[in-house]
Parts: sequence; C-alpha cells; structure tokens
Amino acid sequence: MAPSAITFLTVLAVLCSFFYVLFYISSRKHGKGKGEALPGPRPLPIIGNLHMLGILPHQSLYHLAKKYGPMMSIRLGSVPTVVVSSPPVAEMFLKTHDAIFASRPKVQVLQSISNSQRGIAFTEHGPYWRSVRKICNMQLFTPSKIESFAPTRKEVLMHFTESLKEAATAKEVVNISKKLAEINGEMTLMMVLGPVKKYKEFNLIDLVEELTKIAGVFNLADFVPFLGAFDLQGIKASTRTLGEKLDYALEAVIDDHLQKKQDDFVGVLLTELDQTMNPNGDIMDRNSIKAIILDMIVAGSDTSAATLEWALSELIRHPRVMLKLQQELESIFGNKRIVEENDLP
Ligand code: HEM
Ligand SMILES: *[C@@H]1O[C@H](CO)[C@@H](O)[C@H](O)[C@H]1NC(C)=O
Repeated sequence: MAPSAITFLTVLAVLCSFFYVLFYISSRKHGKGKGEALPGPRPLPIIGNLHMLGILPHQSLYHLAKKYGPMMSIRLGSVPTVVVSSPPVAEMFLKTHDAIFASRPKVQVLQSISNSQRGIAFTEHGPYWRSVRKICNMQLFTPSKIESFAPTRKEVLMHFTESLKEAATAKEVVNISKKLAEINGEMTLMMVLGPVKKYKEFNLIDLVEELTKIAGVFNLADFVPFLGAFDLQGIKASTRTLGEKLDYALEAVIDDHLQKKQDDFVGVLLTELDQTMNPNGDIMDRNSIKAIILDMIVAGSDTSAATLEWALSELIRHPRVMLKLQQELESIFGNKRIVEENDLP
C-alpha cells in the first residue's frame, strides 16, 4: 500500500472521529452562528480546504494548527471538520465527551461492502456495537485466548527468521516491508480463521490488502457528494466486485467451520450464532459474524505491519539506537535463543 494511502487513511480516521464536533457545536448555536465559533483557514467554494492538505496531510494540518490553534475548523469539500491537535483537547473529545463523538463516518467504500455496519469498526455507536464489542472482549481478546495462539505465532516467526538466515547466506536482498506484511497477515488469518492453507484459493491477504488500499484512496465522492453518482475514480464499481469476492470467501469459511468445530475466532463466534445479544433484540447472525471477522482481519493487518515497518526503519535510520538495542538483547539473551513473547515486560 502506498505511504500516501496509509497516511490518508490514518488522517481520515482521525478526522472522521471529529466530524461531529462541528455539528454539535453549531447545533448549540452559541456565539455568532454556524461554525463561526472556531478559527480556521477560509474555505473555497466546493473544495473547501482540500487544496491545503497536500500529499502529506498530517504535516499540512500540523502547520495549519500552529497558526489556528489546537481546535480548528476546516472544510473537506462540503464536510465541516474539526481538527484537534493537542493532548488536552484530544482528551476532551476522545475521553470526556467520548460518547458524543463516537459516531462513524458513512464513507462510500463502506456502503459498497455489504454488512460493514454489522461489525465493530464502522458500526454506529449504540446497543448493537456495545454488545458485539462485549462479546469480542469476553470471548476473543482474553489473555488465555491470545496465549493459546502463541505457538502459532512462534512458528510463523521461526519460519521468517530461518528464511532471513538463508537469504543472508545466499546474499539475497530481502524486502522486509513485504515480508512483515506477509507474516503479519499470516498470523492474523491463523488466529481468525484457523487453517489458512485451506483458504489459499480465495487470496484473502490480497483481497484485504486491496480493501485497505481502496479505503485509503482519496475518494472525492466522500467530500463532494454530488460527484458520487458519477463514480469518477471507479471506486464504487471496484469496491462492489471486491465486496462480492470477500463475501464469497467468508461464506465458505463459515460453512467450513460449521462442518468442523474449531477454536479460532470464527469458531468462537459461531458458538453465539443466532443468539440474542441484548434486550434490544439484536441477533448475532451470519452477517454479523462475516462483518466482525472482516473487521478483525482488516483492522489487524496494515496497522500492525505499518507499525513494525516504521519501528524497523527508525532503527535503521538511527544506528546509535539500533546498537543500544542490540547490546541490550545481547546482554540479556546472548545469542543463545530467540526472544519470546513472555520475555516482554
Ligand atoms: C499497531 C497496530 C494497531 C493500531 C495502530 C490500531 C489502531 C486503531 C485505531 C486508531 C482505531 C480507532 C479507534 C477509534 O476510532 O476509537 C482502532 C480501532 C479498532 N481496532 Fe485497531 N489498531 C491496531 C491493531 C489492531 C488489531 C491487531 C486488531 C484486531 C485483531 C484491531 C482491531 C480493531 C477494532 C475491532 C477496532 C474498532 C474498535 C471500535 O470501533 O470499538 N486493531 N485501531
Ligand atoms: C517492497 O515491498 C513493498 C510492499 O509490498 C513495496 O511497496 C515496495 O515497492 C517493495 N520494495 C522494493 C524495493 O521492491
């Protein structure tokens, strides 16, 4: 995935959390009127302040915030947006008034992926979302569940280090970014779906990568809604095809798990199938399960891979820190054994 796409996805995710700030503020109608309560650069007609974002939006926003303050108003096309950029103000939105701002953007890509509203990440804040989260916290993200996959993660890691050793001996160049994305994808899929080899034909890693990429593309339709109908970038069409492929794969995965009981995330979620989750009458159906597992795979893939890639590239850029790390590892483990998860504090 292109760095600009990752950056944009990150920025979008952060920005979207704040979409509602302005609605909230302007709906209270204090001060002189709509939106005037907040400082910010003057928007142009139609595109608003989009032209000011540049290719590195996080840096452009940083510079704008230095000028307009830690809570500024900008317009992304026709979408009024509040950019928050200091820890105390962020705390106000993300913690103190969390429930008010916990809504989700309804971006075009998600509307073309069926069921996206039945998962967690892009689901409206409310009873359904709360119940699904609770089930995931109690059933999937427990220390014992996470621990039960430790041998699987270790195995993937061993393969990786072996392949690095072999490449080193043969003096081959290794694309570490690519490898990290692969092993991270493999680990995630093993925890979520179990027997990944069995699902190889669906190319799930590729489909998820494509979805992350599409979701990260700057989609004009989300900011200038009247252009949405024209699908100028072809995003709507390609998302629909992708959504169908993903659905087909996930259906097969669920069928397979229904036939043979398994301990992975899908297996655990299936124990809740067709059960009522809350007094509201929400039911954990097949669509919920497909949406939740897709959320888990997508949410856990590019995020973790990009974080690892970032950490490694910072180490490479700072030899002093790299040396310190190597010395620390050397002094604690020598070169006798590989670092294990439970060596971490
Ligand atoms: C370094 C790795 C990761 C980073 C940087 C990261 C970052 C984030 C961020 C910024 C959010 C949005 C929070 C919000 O809007 O309130 C989020 C939500 C989420 N993440 Fe992660 N994440 C990572 C790994 C993972 C993994 C491994 C999983 C699952 C296997 C995961 C599952 C989720 C889910 C389900 C949500 C939605 C939560 C909700 O809506 O309540 N993430 N993540
Ligand atoms: C390494 O892999 C990444 C991710 O697949 C790709 O974007 C990048 O262009 C590759 N780098 C080289 C030098 O091939």
